[in-house]
Parts: sequence; C-alpha cells; structure tokens
Amino acid sequence: GHKNLNAKLVLLGDMGTGKSSLVLRFVKGQFLEFQESTIGAAFFSQTLAVNDATVKFEIWDTAGQERYHSLAPMYYRGAAAAIIVYDITSTESFTRAKKWVQELQKQGNPNMVVALAGNKADLEDKRKVTVEEARVYAEENGLFFTETSAKTAANVNDIFYEIAKKLPRA
Ligand code: GTP
Ligand code: MG
Repeated sequence: GHKNLNAKLVLLGDMGTGKSSLVLRFVKGQFLEFQESTIGAAFFSQTLAVNDATVKFEIWDTAGQERYHSLAPMYYRGAAAAIIVYDITSTESFTRAKKWVQELQKQGNPNMVVALAGNKADLEDKRKVTVEEARVYAEENGLFFTETSAKTAANVNDIFYEIAKKLPRA
C-alpha cells in the first residue's frame, strides 16, 4: 500500500559548491546568482511523491566553510540520506567530497543512501573534473551519482527522486 515516510537528508560539501542553491532549486524552484554563504546550517522541508510513497524530506543544508566542519556530525547523525556536492570546475572540491564520503563511511548510519552531485554542470567550458572519474569513484563506493545544475535545474529534482526511491520502506 501507500506509505508516508519522513526522511532526514543532509547536504555536505565544500563551500561554494552550490548546496544551498540545490536546495533552493528543489524547494522553491528558484536560483540566485549571489546566494549567501551558509552560517552553521539551514533547515528546509519538501514533500515528494514516488510510486508507492510520499516522502517528506527534512533537509539540513550545512555550511561548507572549514570552521563549521565540527558541527557536521550533528546533522548527518541519524540521517537517512546524504547528498555530497562538489563543483565540476574545482578539483579541490572533488577531493573534499571524497573526504566527506570517507567520513560518512566511518561515522555515518550504515544504511544511509548517499548521492554524489557534480554541480555547476552548466559551466562546461570551466570543467576540471571529468564525468568519467566521478562515475568510476561513485561506482567503487556504492554512491548514486549525477551531475546537476542548480542554475538550469538539470537533474536537481531527479537526485531527490532517486534518493526517495532508494530509501528503505519501513
Ligand atoms: P556554503 O554555504 O558556503 O557552503 O556554499 P554552498 O555550497 O551553499 O554554495 P551556494 O549555493 O551558496 O552557491 C555558491 C555560488 O555558486 C553562488 O553564487 C551560486 O549562485 C553559484 N551556483 C550554485 N549552483 C550553481 C550552478 O549550478 N551553476 C552556476 N553557474 N552557479 C551556481
Ligand atoms: Mg550554503
């Protein structure tokens, strides 16, 4: 039958990769060229209907600045899902994303659905991280992977939809 699920979801990733922009796109259908850097974390919720269920995402959009790193466990602890975001124009942000994957593998909920998002896919001419290296990395680590653009909306709803489909049906 039809199920109603609540799912805590956390976004992690380097500062400026577009975590807040992805959430703003998903929750409000908007994009800001001058999105402000997040202080601490911000909370949003959004409901999504998948085949057999209605999933209410309780979204924690964390701050990517290094000085907030120690707060992250408060947000990923008990989370059913995580989206780790990097910027396809920054190899440094991809390295940071891999560190988040390791941290979740060590400290996170073992059943967590983890997605890797290569954001700013609209900036193809500035690309530094190839689709192939990210895909291989994601496969090796059992992550769902897609490139996204909060600016054009490409694949943004899809990533939340794919997560919703993978959540355990309690
Ligand atoms: P912190 O809160 O500091 O961790 O950053 P963040 O990951 O939340 O990044 P944020 O959403 O604030 O975006 C940073 C900048 O990148 C903003 O100026 C956004 O407008 C821009 N941006 C975000 N997503 C995209 C995208 O898909 N394409 C392009 N071209 N710019 C983007
Ligand atoms: Mg932010």
